[in-house]
Amino acid sequence: MSDNEPVSEHEKMARWWSTAISDISPGVIRLRGHDIVELIHGWDLVSVIWLMLRGTTPSPEEAALLQAAMVASVDHGPQAPSIAAARMAVTCGVGLNNAIATGVNVLGDVHGGAGQQCLELYLEIADDEAGSNDGLDAAVARVVDRWRSRQHYLPGFGHRFHPVDPRAAPLLQLVDRAAEQGAVSGRFARIARAVEAYLSLGRPRPVPLNIDGATAAIYGELGFTPQLARGLFCLSRSVGILAHAAEEQGSGARIKGPMPPSVLPAYTGPPPDHATS
Ligand SMILES: CC(C)(COP(=O)(O)OP(=O)(O)OC[C@H]1O[C@@H](n2cnc3c(N)ncnc32)[C@H](O)[C@@H]1OP(=O)(O)O)[C@@H](O)C(=O)NCCC(=O)NCCS
Repeated sequence: MSDNEPVSEHEKMARWWSTAISDISPGVIRLRGHDIVELIHGWDLVSVIWLMLRGTTPSPEEAALLQAAMVASVDHGPQAPSIAAARMAVTCGVGLNNAIATGVNVLGDVHGGAGQQCLELYLEIADDEAGSNDGLDAAVARVVDRWRSRQHYLPGFGHRFHPVDPRAAPLLQLVDRAAEQGAVSGRFARIARAVEAYLSLGRPRPVPLNIDGATAAIYGELGFTPQLARGLFCLSRSVGILAHAAEEQGSGARIKGPMPPSVLPAYTGPPPDHATS
């Protein structure tokens, strides 16, 4: 059809939600061209996530890396605001769907969502390194200094609990192994380690690479966009949020606040007689 040919109302309607993802008609469900029966019989969930997001079949090495990143981000207990918020929500009488939405909604730039900005940081370093000839460490210094002139905390680094995040090294080791096999470049793992080393220069304790920074390295290796780095974290953490919300729901607790009722928040306003005088 040429650009000038009139488009029928029916065609306009069909194009309104046009999609390259799913092909659904009576009796037929195909995702990215694969019949749902084929997927039911032979595919694991991580490969289907890749298929849905990328439209291709992951290699076994790619699927293994994606799986590792998603397994590592599943849960961090009720100290994590995403888990606590979901547990509180469910004691207010909402359903598990609302509890999941509550938990996912707090995955922002500082908690759980930092992978998005962190991958942007890694990509900027990769670009700088490619466009200059003084090596990775110099590119890291330039880009990190630029970011830190705008914000104190670099996304993907630091942890409130762990002096060293126990998830980071095993994830980067998997990237190293996949790089040895030629499945990925290994470039983002090198960048992550170089940023950690730069941030830790001259400090008695390192500023550790955290889960968002380590998974951002994997998502970068796998060619996901920064936005999807956050999206994939949300998908993974939804599993932990669901488990915790279901456990809390099963306990029968009602209106559970952030701390036991016997502990009252410190009051910092005017004294009682001030308001009436
Ligand atoms: C996670 C986070 C909130 C923890 O913060 P915290 O426990 O309050 O850490 P502190 O502010 O006490 O930091 C301790 C020291 O490490 C430094 N530091 C911590 N995180 C840093 C970061 N991301 N970039 C640069 N320096 C950092 C602080 O400047 C501080 O240095 P100082 O001792 O010289 O003052 C913080 O590291 C952060 O915001 N990180 C970026 C967001 C992120 O990746 N979130 C995902 C967390 S899993």
